[in-house]
Amino acid sequence: MIAPVRESWGTRAGFLLAAVGSAVGLGNMWRFSYVASQGGGAAFVIAYLVIVAAIGIPLMTSEFVVGRMTRTSPARAMRQLGGRAWAPLGWLFVLCGFGILSYYSVIAGWTMRYAFDAVRNAIPADTAGYFTNVSSGGDAVVTHLLFMGVTVFIILGGIKRGIERAVLLMMPLLFLLLLGLAAWSATLSGAAAGYASYLRPDLGKLLDGNILTQAAGQAFFSLSLGMGAMMTYASYLKTRGDLGRDATVVAVSDFSVAFVAGLVVFPVIFTFGLQGDVGDSAVGALFIALPAGFASMGAAGAVVDTLFFVMLFLAAITSAISLLEVVVTAAMDVLGWSRRRTTVVFGGVAMLFGLPAAYNTTFLGNLDTVVGNFLLILGGFLTAVLVGHKILNRAEAELADGVESVALRRTWAWLIRYVVPVVLLLVLLNAAAPAWAALKGLVTFAR
Ligand code: PHE
Repeated sequence: MIAPVRESWGTRAGFLLAAVGSAVGLGNMWRFSYVASQGGGAAFVIAYLVIVAAIGIPLMTSEFVVGRMTRTSPARAMRQLGGRAWAPLGWLFVLCGFGILSYYSVIAGWTMRYAFDAVRNAIPADTAGYFTNVSSGGDAVVTHLLFMGVTVFIILGGIKRGIERAVLLMMPLLFLLLLGLAAWSATLSGAAAGYASYLRPDLGKLLDGNILTQAAGQAFFSLSLGMGAMMTYASYLKTRGDLGRDATVVAVSDFSVAFVAGLVVFPVIFTFGLQGDVGDSAVGALFIALPAGFASMGAAGAVVDTLFFVMLFLAAITSAISLLEVVVTAAMDVLGWSRRRTTVVFGGVAMLFGLPAAYNTTFLGNLDTVVGNFLLILGGFLTAVLVGHKILNRAEAELADGVESVALRRTWAWLIRYVVPVVLLLVLLNAAAPAWAALKGLVTFAR
């Protein structure tokens, strides 16, 4: 049998926007500003940037390198590069893709519902009660299934006609909405107080090891690292180019969106005196406090509300397609099925996987802790070991195709060989106990 030619991006911009689309997601809108405000404000932001530069960009570059070098699904690439012993890493990626998609889609489903109700001006003043309705029982299941349906639909179109077309349309719109909302937010009376609470620097907090672990975890999730998503996208690259620069562009865009999203959220909360509604979770800020603020603004509020949740939906869908694509490309490679068949079957499986998270937000939280905060980091750590210690020369040669500066390549090699694994190991140790507790929670639920 002649292997079918691997699909490819139509343009480099398509690849870049798809990667930015994967990175920019609910994590940016929902976790970053909250974690920052709790973790030392501007001091946290600076620590975060250091982590992105020292860990995030080198690791993303590595994922791009592996993808372009092997031009196959990550599930296969690991075996190809590392031999049999490394094959399980490829399957860990697929497991993470399934795991994250299953709960990500549930939260994304809520945003769809919010956007829909906002258009109809049907979000009630009691946003806490509304949130409970939206996020539980049959309602949550239906929106989860709908969101997965949209994801499957885009993936069915393939790389050029599905993913690339979607991101070329959606990402510019997302940026526009974000900037518009930030400009509007700046005019609110509580803007200054909001910014201050978001960014007031507190260096002392940085001495707390947990905050740095949190920053690293946030950077990982936000940059879509550790699960083969970036590898998968790079495996569809046909053209040569500077992968280090591409990774930098993606990381800077991702950070900028997260940072600006905080500039949108905090003024609203302070203008409408909603500090108490934020609660102790970022989800509370996004789904309860913000809509309460919008609701108290009358007609104008309904417009802003709609724009805000449409923006969240766009961020979520362009991330979800990268999650499903990791699973689909692996299954296409290994089973030799058509894209159509693979997408329908595995999209269906992801729908089923998401049901427990849709029914139960505790289950959802535990899954996020196990997969989003632990397995992703494990995947990233192992990727760094593979690239930095087993195939470094080959990887550097691949990187050289586009990165001419020897000094830059050497810096990358040094970071991926020493700095990334050591830091990630520390983060893993820190995250192990909560992940273990959450895993027990998942098992108890299953029984
Ligand atoms: N980066 C996405 C976000 O911030 C989530 C994601 C993680 C997507 C891993 C793909 C892979 O929401």
